[in-house]
Amino acid sequence: MPPVRPGETALVTGATSGIGRAVAVALRDAGFRVLGTSRTPHTADAPEGVELLPLDLADPASIALLPGELRSRGLSGSADGGVTVLVNNAGESQNGPVEELPRSALERVFQINTIGQIEVTQKVLTGMRNSRRGRVIFIGSMLGSFPLAYRGSYGASKAAVRQFAFAARRELRGFGIGVSVVEPGAIATGLSARRTVYVDPDGPYAGEFTTMLRRLNRNESRGISAERVAAEIMKPVTAARPAPLYAVGSQAPLAFAAARLLPRDAMAGILARRHGLR
Ligand SMILES: NC(=O)c1ccc[n+]([C@@H]2O[C@H](COP(=O)([O-])OP(=O)(O)OC[C@H]3O[C@@H](n4cnc5c(N)ncnc54)[C@H](OP(=O)(O)O)[C@@H]3O)[C@@H](O)[C@H]2O)c1
Repeated sequence: MPPVRPGETALVTGATSGIGRAVAVALRDAGFRVLGTSRTPHTADAPEGVELLPLDLADPASIALLPGELRSRGLSGSADGGVTVLVNNAGESQNGPVEELPRSALERVFQINTIGQIEVTQKVLTGMRNSRRGRVIFIGSMLGSFPLAYRGSYGASKAAVRQFAFAARRELRGFGIGVSVVEPGAIATGLSARRTVYVDPDGPYAGEFTTMLRRLNRNESRGISAERVAAEIMKPVTAARPAPLYAVGSQAPLAFAAARLLPRDAMAGILARRHGLR
């Protein structure tokens, strides 16, 4: 697969905090021109040397404006010289029992974490095909591979984007474009404070849900750093043959190895107990 090179342009969605910020810095330090995105690019704190573009994945109209934003920075979507590295990072963490998730919540999490990531990818693929090289990296979640109670909508949105990615991987291989998914475990980014929560405080799930959320937040605060995840994301950027799936944090190698050996319910039980559920 043709390499992508320093001096070329990388686009990182959600580059103002956490994993996106760390990978934007890693790409910048590796010599790429880095464009990041934010819902509030004029007031957000961009990493030094990273240009911020407006993007709200919850809003299809905002995604539609992305090609114009790229053109205004001298990047053509249809010829050589466009974006050659895309890190689909921006996402939202949603929590709630399946029975109580309103349609609006389901639409929101799939719009941001799945449809939004796919539409952003569509906007840069023509340029990558024309230059016959590129790397597209989707930031999923280990919860996309390992289901957890009360994280159904989030895990499903991440599993869905992984399936899109694996299909696109074969479609784009012949054009010199590598497609990979990076699934982080618990990462200390402060994401806990930004989770959306849908639960009836007087409903039948409230007690268990609260236990799960407390443990989830504790695991996240004890998680590995965003910089460690960024180092993992750089692997498919620099590899001659990027792998389909990378995973990091939450003892990922052990978890994936165990999943190949254990019955599904046994594996689900381990994850549930890790989150305080019996
Ligand atoms: N932290 C973890 O434990 C963990 C574990 C597994 C997977 N992940 C995944 O890793 C990715 C990054 O997570 P993080 O922990 O680094 O999160 P974070 O610190 O909350 O950062 C999220 C970034 O996405 C942007 N963003 C949020 N909502 C957006 C929207 N609707 N449209 C466009 N941009 C939006 C934010 O920028 P603005 O606010 O400036 O718009 C911010 O830069 C997400 O996809 C998440 O699901 C995280």
